[in-house]
Amino acid sequence: MAAAPNDLANWWMPFTDNRYFKANPRLLVAAQDMHYTSADGRRILDGTAGLWCVNAGHGREPIVRAIQQQAATLDFAPTFQMGHPLAFQLAARVAGLMPEGLDRVFFTNSGSESVDTALKIALAYWRAKGQGQRTRLIGRERGYHGVGFGGISVGGIVTNRRAFGPGLPGTDHLPHTHDLARNAFSKGQPAHGADLADRLEAIIALHGADTIAAVIVEPLAGSTGVLVPPLGYLERLRAITSAHGILLIFDEVISGFGRLGAATAAERFGVTPDIICLAKGLTNAAVPMGAVAAARHVHDAIVNAPGDAPGIELFHGYTYSAHALACAAGIAAIDLYASDALFERARALEGHWEAALHALKGLPHVIDIRNFGLVAGIELAPRAGAPGARAMDLFRAMFDAGLLIRVTGDIIALSPPLIITADQIDQLVTQLAAGLRQLA
Ligand SMILES: Cc1ncc(COP(=O)(O)O)c(C=O)c1O
Repeated sequence: MAAAPNDLANWWMPFTDNRYFKANPRLLVAAQDMHYTSADGRRILDGTAGLWCVNAGHGREPIVRAIQQQAATLDFAPTFQMGHPLAFQLAARVAGLMPEGLDRVFFTNSGSESVDTALKIALAYWRAKGQGQRTRLIGRERGYHGVGFGGISVGGIVTNRRAFGPGLPGTDHLPHTHDLARNAFSKGQPAHGADLADRLEAIIALHGADTIAAVIVEPLAGSTGVLVPPLGYLERLRAITSAHGILLIFDEVISGFGRLGAATAAERFGVTPDIICLAKGLTNAAVPMGAVAAARHVHDAIVNAPGDAPGIELFHGYTYSAHALACAAGIAAIDLYASDALFERARALEGHWEAALHALKGLPHVIDIRNFGLVAGIELAPRAGAPGARAMDLFRAMFDAGLLIRVTGDIIALSPPLIITADQIDQLVTQLAAGLRQLA
């Protein structure tokens, strides 16, 4: 086990209150299955699968072994004008999990890169089809699509945008679907809000469909507090984009790989986009990796464009696209999801998860509980004049009490590894209830 460092100054930490943290550090030194171990030797129940990514639980032996063996066999192979077998194998495995037809897979190293890759593919697609004027990209308020310039431009989180200039030109945003007045304490998909998809018609009327390349949404918005799509909403978005020939991109960086009790949200909701962004659970987070799965027609328009001279079709890629260690981890993770039937397990646990969490209704400050798959959001009333402070207090108290939760604003987001047991769900909810009762 690694010794705790005695100087915390050099590492400029991501999305962290650096000054507070370095005065009050929280250090993790090991992890196995459902638990982290902290530097002071405490076991901490992982209520968040790390950062929505360790879907098969921590330190799983087949993944560890695959990475170790791969590091000793082929550590790195360039993938520009060259290949290695595992990359093709993993692409086939990913394609096998995608909805029918989304079987062309481009590898990246993170969710942010997957989003920027998907947006660039959408632009390149229209150019290849002779409609290069289609450059507008439509996102959604409260959308999180990572931290690249493309992702923050279509994303809808003000704190992630305002320090960084105007972003991409020609973006616009759908309204978010969060509606406490009508949908609070919904179990599963909320009843109200399908009509919010119709706002896309107004955006199309304003800009002209022939200027719009793509619409990108998280089918279930995770990072801004678990916003479950209202019944019928995604279907309407698909119908409108199809009617106007606009590409639909699902950002499934969180919702992919079993989180919603199926390989993808597209499968679970029965709505097929043209492009899917993936990362996180792809390798069970053991090695960084992302991917973009594109429909055949999108891929073929770019790669088999008629009349093009042979040559590189898409001037895009990363040194570490399809990194050998990531491919080994990805194949092992997908094998494990199948052998342990983890997507099915998530689906089977959903009822217990829902009932256990909704039992928190009535506890102090709780103004909403929402859930789908093995995800839940619990919204707290903000403390007057200090938004986010109440949930942050809870996060810190829970960590000290041995439970890892995630908070965003005043919303608690829960997304445990899919190996969680019913007893561990009960334990998680009991600990959370105790924390909520003690909260000022
Ligand atoms: C929906 C979504 N897209 C993109 C990202 C960015 O992924 P990464 O942090 O790997 O760049 C995230 C991360 O949480 C996400 O939830």
